[in-house]
Amino acid sequence: MVAETRLGVDDLIAPLFVSETLTGPVEIPSLPGVMQHSQESLRAEVERLANLGIPAVILFGLPETKDATGSGASDPEGVVQIALGNLRSDLADEMVLIADLCVDEYTDHGHCGILTADGSVDNDATLELYADIAVAQANAGADICAPSGMMDGQVLAIRDALDDSGHIDTAILAYAAKYASSFYGPFRDAVDVSIADGGDRKGYQQDYRNGREALDEIAFDISEGADMIMVKPALAYLDILSAARAVTNVPVAAYHVSGEYAMVKAAAANGWIDGEAAMLEILTSIKRAGADMILTYFADEAAELLQAEK
Ligand code: PBG
Repeated sequence: MVAETRLGVDDLIAPLFVSETLTGPVEIPSLPGVMQHSQESLRAEVERLANLGIPAVILFGLPETKDATGSGASDPEGVVQIALGNLRSDLADEMVLIADLCVDEYTDHGHCGILTADGSVDNDATLELYADIAVAQANAGADICAPSGMMDGQVLAIRDALDDSGHIDTAILAYAAKYASSFYGPFRDAVDVSIADGGDRKGYQQDYRNGREALDEIAFDISEGADMIMVKPALAYLDILSAARAVTNVPVAAYHVSGEYAMVKAAAANGWIDGEAAMLEILTSIKRAGADMILTYFADEAAELLQAEK
Protein backbone atom coordinates (compact mmCIF):
# COMPACT_ATOMS: atom_id res chain seq x y z
CA MET A 1 0.00 0.00 0.00
CA VAL A 2 2.79 2.38 0.79
CA ALA A 3 5.17 1.33 -1.96
CA GLU A 4 6.33 4.45 -3.83
CA THR A 5 7.40 2.61 -6.94
CA ARG A 6 5.74 -0.12 -8.93
CA LEU A 7 7.21 -2.04 -11.79
CA GLY A 8 4.60 -3.07 -14.34
CA VAL A 9 4.60 -5.09 -17.53
CA ASP A 10 3.61 -1.94 -19.41
CA ASP A 11 6.94 -0.33 -18.45
CA LEU A 12 8.92 -2.87 -20.45
CA ILE A 13 10.33 -2.64 -23.96
CA ALA A 14 12.01 -5.73 -25.41
CA PRO A 15 15.10 -5.29 -27.63
CA LEU A 16 15.08 -7.89 -30.43
CA PHE A 17 17.63 -8.94 -33.03
CA VAL A 18 16.59 -10.02 -36.52
CA SER A 19 18.97 -11.58 -39.01
CA GLU A 20 18.85 -11.61 -42.78
CA THR A 21 20.61 -14.97 -43.02
CA LEU A 22 19.33 -17.16 -40.19
CA THR A 23 16.56 -19.66 -40.74
CA GLY A 24 15.78 -20.13 -37.04
CA PRO A 25 16.65 -18.62 -33.65
CA VAL A 26 20.24 -18.80 -32.38
CA GLU A 27 21.08 -17.96 -28.77
CA ILE A 28 23.66 -15.23 -28.19
CA PRO A 29 26.32 -16.80 -25.92
CA SER A 30 27.04 -13.62 -23.95
CA LEU A 31 23.31 -12.87 -23.54
CA PRO A 32 21.85 -16.11 -22.15
CA GLY A 33 18.21 -16.48 -23.15
CA VAL A 34 18.40 -13.81 -25.88
CA MET A 35 18.20 -14.87 -29.52
CA GLN A 36 19.23 -13.69 -32.92
CA HIS A 37 16.01 -14.29 -34.84
CA SER A 38 15.04 -15.22 -38.35
CA GLN A 39 12.10 -13.29 -39.75
CA GLU A 40 9.76 -16.16 -38.89
CA SER A 41 11.04 -16.77 -35.37
CA LEU A 42 10.85 -13.02 -34.73
CA ARG A 43 7.17 -13.03 -35.64
CA ALA A 44 6.49 -15.84 -33.18
CA GLU A 45 8.52 -14.15 -30.47
CA VAL A 46 6.73 -10.81 -30.84
CA GLU A 47 3.40 -12.57 -30.69
CA ARG A 48 4.51 -14.25 -27.45
CA LEU A 49 5.61 -10.88 -26.01
CA ALA A 50 2.28 -9.31 -27.00
CA ASN A 51 0.46 -12.11 -25.15
CA LEU A 52 2.54 -11.34 -22.07
CA GLY A 53 1.27 -7.75 -22.23
CA ILE A 54 4.55 -6.16 -23.26
CA PRO A 55 3.61 -2.94 -25.05
CA ALA A 56 6.64 -2.34 -27.28
CA VAL A 57 9.65 -3.89 -28.98
CA ILE A 58 12.76 -2.27 -30.43
CA LEU A 59 14.34 -3.91 -33.45
CA PHE A 60 18.00 -4.25 -34.40
CA GLY A 61 19.02 -5.70 -37.76
CA LEU A 62 21.80 -8.07 -38.76
CA PRO A 63 22.26 -7.63 -42.51
CA GLU A 64 23.83 -10.24 -44.74
CA THR A 65 26.37 -7.77 -46.08
CA LYS A 66 27.94 -4.62 -44.71
CA ASP A 67 29.42 -1.68 -46.61
CA ALA A 68 31.09 1.68 -45.96
CA THR A 69 27.84 3.64 -45.78
CA GLY A 70 25.65 1.03 -44.12
CA SER A 71 23.25 1.06 -47.05
CA GLY A 72 21.23 -1.90 -45.70
CA ALA A 73 19.85 0.35 -43.00
CA SER A 74 17.78 2.42 -45.43
CA ASP A 75 17.06 -0.27 -48.03
CA PRO A 76 13.27 -0.74 -48.35
CA GLU A 77 14.06 -4.49 -48.55
CA GLY A 78 16.49 -4.27 -45.61
CA VAL A 79 16.13 -6.76 -42.79
CA VAL A 80 14.47 -4.40 -40.30
CA GLN A 81 12.11 -2.95 -42.90
CA ILE A 82 10.91 -6.46 -43.82
CA ALA A 83 10.47 -7.28 -40.13
CA LEU A 84 8.48 -4.09 -39.52
CA GLY A 85 6.15 -4.92 -42.40
CA ASN A 86 5.60 -8.48 -41.14
CA LEU A 87 4.96 -7.43 -37.56
CA ARG A 88 2.63 -4.64 -38.58
CA SER A 89 0.53 -7.07 -40.59
CA ASP A 90 0.61 -9.71 -37.80
CA LEU A 91 -0.22 -7.44 -34.90
CA ALA A 92 -1.82 -4.29 -36.32
CA ASP A 93 -1.69 -1.77 -33.45
CA GLU A 94 -1.35 -4.34 -30.70
CA MET A 95 2.39 -3.75 -30.35
CA VAL A 96 4.32 -0.48 -30.55
CA LEU A 97 7.09 -1.00 -33.10
CA ILE A 98 10.28 0.92 -32.41
CA ALA A 99 13.14 0.84 -34.89
CA ASP A 100 16.66 1.49 -33.64
CA LEU A 101 18.06 4.01 -36.11
CA CYS A 102 21.80 3.71 -36.64
CA VAL A 103 24.29 2.32 -39.13
CA ASP A 104 26.83 0.50 -36.99
CA GLU A 105 25.25 -2.91 -37.61
CA TYR A 106 25.40 -2.15 -41.34
CA THR A 107 28.84 -0.58 -41.81
CA ASP A 108 31.93 -2.66 -42.55
CA HIS A 109 33.99 -0.42 -40.20
CA GLY A 110 31.48 -0.68 -37.33
CA HIS A 111 31.09 3.05 -36.67
CA CYS A 112 27.73 4.78 -36.26
CA GLY A 113 28.34 7.08 -39.24
CA ILE A 114 30.22 7.60 -42.50
CA LEU A 115 33.94 8.10 -42.26
CA THR A 116 36.08 10.93 -43.59
CA ALA A 117 39.38 10.18 -45.36
CA ASP A 118 41.22 10.24 -42.02
CA GLY A 119 38.89 7.64 -40.51
CA SER A 120 36.89 9.89 -38.20
CA VAL A 121 33.11 10.03 -38.32
CA ASP A 122 31.61 12.77 -40.52
CA ASN A 123 28.72 14.06 -38.41
CA ASP A 124 26.87 16.11 -41.01
CA ALA A 125 27.20 13.65 -43.89
CA THR A 126 25.85 10.98 -41.54
CA LEU A 127 22.71 13.04 -40.89
CA GLU A 128 21.71 12.56 -44.53
CA LEU A 129 21.91 8.78 -44.10
CA TYR A 130 19.85 8.93 -40.93
CA ALA A 131 17.15 10.95 -42.70
CA ASP A 132 16.87 8.23 -45.38
CA ILE A 133 16.75 5.47 -42.76
CA ALA A 134 13.95 7.24 -40.87
CA VAL A 135 11.83 7.47 -44.00
CA ALA A 136 12.46 3.80 -44.86
CA GLN A 137 11.53 2.71 -41.34
CA ALA A 138 8.37 4.82 -41.27
CA ASN A 139 7.35 3.57 -44.71
CA ALA A 140 7.79 0.01 -43.45
CA GLY A 141 5.53 0.60 -40.45
CA ALA A 142 7.63 1.89 -37.54
CA ASP A 143 5.65 3.82 -34.92
CA ILE A 144 8.81 5.25 -33.41
CA CYS A 145 12.31 5.87 -34.75
CA ALA A 146 15.01 5.71 -32.10
CA PRO A 147 18.26 7.32 -33.27
CA SER A 148 21.16 5.83 -31.29
CA GLY A 149 24.19 7.16 -33.19
CA MET A 150 24.75 10.30 -31.08
CA MET A 151 25.39 12.58 -34.07
CA ASP A 152 24.76 16.26 -33.32
CA GLY A 153 21.55 17.42 -34.98
CA GLN A 154 20.23 13.91 -35.64
CA VAL A 155 16.80 14.49 -34.12
CA LEU A 156 16.14 17.58 -36.22
CA ALA A 157 17.35 15.88 -39.41
CA ILE A 158 15.07 12.92 -38.77
CA ARG A 159 12.06 15.04 -37.78
CA ASP A 160 12.39 17.07 -40.98
CA ALA A 161 12.72 13.97 -43.14
CA LEU A 162 9.70 12.31 -41.51
CA ASP A 163 7.56 15.43 -41.86
CA ASP A 164 8.61 16.04 -45.46
CA SER A 165 7.67 12.46 -46.37
CA GLY A 166 4.25 12.76 -44.76
CA HIS A 167 5.11 10.74 -41.63
CA ILE A 168 3.98 13.46 -39.29
CA ASP A 169 2.79 11.00 -36.63
CA THR A 170 5.94 8.89 -36.49
CA ALA A 171 7.49 9.65 -33.12
CA ILE A 172 11.14 10.00 -32.12
CA LEU A 173 12.65 8.34 -29.07
CA ALA A 174 16.05 10.01 -28.81
CA TYR A 175 18.98 8.18 -27.30
CA ALA A 176 19.82 11.58 -25.82
CA ALA A 177 22.31 10.79 -23.08
CA LYS A 178 24.23 7.81 -24.36
CA TYR A 179 27.59 7.15 -22.80
CA ALA A 180 30.65 5.52 -24.33
CA SER A 181 30.34 2.47 -22.10
CA SER A 182 32.03 -0.84 -21.46
CA PHE A 183 28.60 -2.34 -20.83
CA TYR A 184 27.79 -2.70 -24.55
CA GLY A 185 30.11 -5.67 -25.03
CA PRO A 186 27.55 -8.48 -25.41
CA PHE A 187 25.41 -6.32 -27.72
CA ARG A 188 28.31 -6.06 -30.15
CA ASP A 189 28.45 -9.87 -30.17
CA ALA A 190 24.72 -9.94 -30.74
CA VAL A 191 24.92 -7.73 -33.82
CA ASP A 192 28.34 -8.92 -34.92
CA VAL A 193 29.97 -5.50 -34.76
CA SER A 194 33.61 -4.78 -34.12
CA ILE A 195 34.97 -1.31 -34.59
CA ALA A 196 37.76 -1.04 -37.16
CA ASP A 197 41.36 -0.69 -35.95
CA GLY A 198 40.40 -1.21 -32.31
CA GLY A 199 38.52 2.10 -32.39
CA ASP A 200 35.90 3.33 -29.98
CA ARG A 201 32.91 5.68 -29.93
CA LYS A 202 34.36 8.33 -27.64
CA GLY A 203 34.22 10.87 -30.47
CA TYR A 204 30.43 10.85 -30.45
CA GLN A 205 29.20 9.14 -27.29
CA GLN A 206 29.46 10.82 -23.91
CA ASP A 207 32.26 10.73 -21.37
CA TYR A 208 31.10 8.96 -18.23
CA ARG A 209 32.80 11.56 -16.06
CA ASN A 210 30.24 14.13 -17.21
CA GLY A 211 26.74 14.48 -15.84
CA ARG A 212 25.70 18.07 -16.55
CA GLU A 213 26.63 17.61 -20.20
CA ALA A 214 23.90 14.96 -20.43
CA LEU A 215 21.29 17.54 -19.51
CA ASP A 216 22.44 19.72 -22.41
CA GLU A 217 22.23 16.76 -24.78
CA ILE A 218 18.70 16.09 -23.58
CA ALA A 219 17.66 19.74 -23.95
CA PHE A 220 19.05 19.86 -27.51
CA ASP A 221 17.15 16.73 -28.48
CA ILE A 222 13.87 17.99 -27.07
CA SER A 223 14.29 21.33 -28.81
CA GLU A 224 14.94 19.45 -32.07
CA GLY A 225 11.67 17.56 -31.72
CA ALA A 226 12.28 14.45 -29.61
CA ASP A 227 9.00 13.08 -28.27
CA MET A 228 10.75 10.95 -25.66
CA ILE A 229 14.33 10.81 -24.45
CA MET A 230 16.57 8.01 -23.23
CA VAL A 231 19.43 7.59 -20.81
CA LYS A 232 21.80 4.71 -21.54
CA PRO A 233 23.16 2.60 -19.86
CA ALA A 234 20.88 2.57 -16.81
CA LEU A 235 22.38 1.22 -13.61
CA ALA A 236 25.67 3.13 -13.55
CA TYR A 237 23.72 6.24 -14.61
CA LEU A 238 20.79 6.41 -12.20
CA ASP A 239 21.90 9.90 -11.17
CA ILE A 240 21.62 11.04 -14.80
CA LEU A 241 18.21 9.42 -15.07
CA SER A 242 16.96 11.16 -11.99
CA ALA A 243 18.36 14.51 -13.12
CA ALA A 244 16.79 14.00 -16.55
CA ARG A 245 13.42 13.29 -14.96
CA ALA A 246 13.68 16.50 -12.94
CA VAL A 247 14.36 18.76 -15.92
CA THR A 248 12.09 17.28 -18.61
CA ASN A 249 8.40 16.70 -19.02
CA VAL A 250 8.60 14.29 -21.96
CA PRO A 251 8.61 10.56 -21.24
CA VAL A 252 12.00 9.27 -20.11
CA ALA A 253 13.29 5.86 -21.13
CA ALA A 254 16.25 4.00 -19.69
CA TYR A 255 18.19 1.31 -21.54
CA HIS A 256 19.30 -1.46 -19.21
CA VAL A 257 21.98 -2.62 -21.61
CA SER A 258 23.49 -5.93 -22.60
CA GLY A 259 26.44 -5.93 -20.19
CA GLU A 260 24.17 -5.07 -17.28
CA TYR A 261 21.96 -8.04 -18.14
CA ALA A 262 24.90 -10.38 -18.72
CA MET A 263 26.42 -9.61 -15.32
CA VAL A 264 23.24 -10.64 -13.51
CA LYS A 265 22.93 -13.79 -15.61
CA ALA A 266 26.55 -14.77 -15.06
CA ALA A 267 26.46 -14.22 -11.31
CA ALA A 268 23.15 -16.06 -11.01
CA ALA A 269 24.46 -18.99 -13.06
CA ASN A 270 27.30 -19.30 -10.57
CA GLY A 271 24.87 -19.26 -7.66
CA TRP A 272 26.42 -16.02 -6.39
CA ILE A 273 23.20 -14.00 -6.45
CA ASP A 274 19.50 -14.73 -6.76
CA GLY A 275 19.00 -13.75 -10.39
CA GLU A 276 15.25 -13.18 -10.24
CA ALA A 277 15.43 -11.04 -7.13
CA ALA A 278 18.32 -9.04 -8.58
CA MET A 279 16.38 -8.50 -11.80
CA LEU A 280 13.37 -7.09 -9.98
CA GLU A 281 15.49 -4.95 -7.69
CA ILE A 282 17.43 -3.47 -10.60
CA LEU A 283 14.42 -2.80 -12.80
CA THR A 284 12.52 -1.26 -9.89
CA SER A 285 15.50 0.96 -9.03
CA ILE A 286 15.54 2.23 -12.61
CA LYS A 287 11.87 3.18 -12.26
CA ARG A 288 12.47 4.73 -8.86
CA ALA A 289 15.21 6.89 -10.38
CA GLY A 290 12.68 8.30 -12.84
CA ALA A 291 12.27 6.09 -15.89
CA ASP A 292 8.80 5.81 -17.42
CA MET A 293 9.89 2.87 -19.53
CA ILE A 294 12.78 0.44 -19.55
CA LEU A 295 14.43 -1.23 -22.51
CA THR A 296 15.69 -4.51 -21.13
CA TYR A 297 16.63 -8.03 -22.18
CA PHE A 298 14.74 -9.08 -19.04
CA ALA A 299 11.44 -7.88 -20.54
CA ASP A 300 9.93 -11.32 -21.09
CA GLU A 301 11.25 -12.82 -17.85
CA ALA A 302 10.08 -9.84 -15.80
CA ALA A 303 6.70 -9.85 -17.53
CA GLU A 304 6.23 -13.55 -16.79
CA LEU A 305 7.06 -12.99 -13.14
CA LEU A 306 4.85 -9.92 -12.78
CA GLN A 307 1.93 -11.67 -14.49
CA ALA A 308 2.35 -14.68 -12.18
CA GLU A 309 2.34 -12.42 -9.11
CA LYS A 310 -0.90 -10.87 -10.29
C1 PBG B 1 24.52 1.44 -31.45
C2 PBG B 1 23.91 0.76 -30.28
C3 PBG B 1 24.59 0.11 -29.27
C4 PBG B 1 23.63 -0.38 -28.37
C5 PBG B 1 22.39 0.00 -28.86
N1 PBG B 1 22.58 0.72 -30.04
C6 PBG B 1 26.03 -0.21 -29.12
C7 PBG B 1 27.02 0.87 -29.19
O1 PBG B 1 26.73 2.06 -29.06
O2 PBG B 1 28.17 0.49 -29.36
C8 PBG B 1 23.93 -1.14 -27.13
C9 PBG B 1 22.83 -1.81 -26.45
C10 PBG B 1 23.23 -2.82 -25.44
O3 PBG B 1 24.41 -2.94 -25.04
O4 PBG B 1 22.34 -3.54 -24.98
N2 PBG B 1 23.69 1.57 -32.54
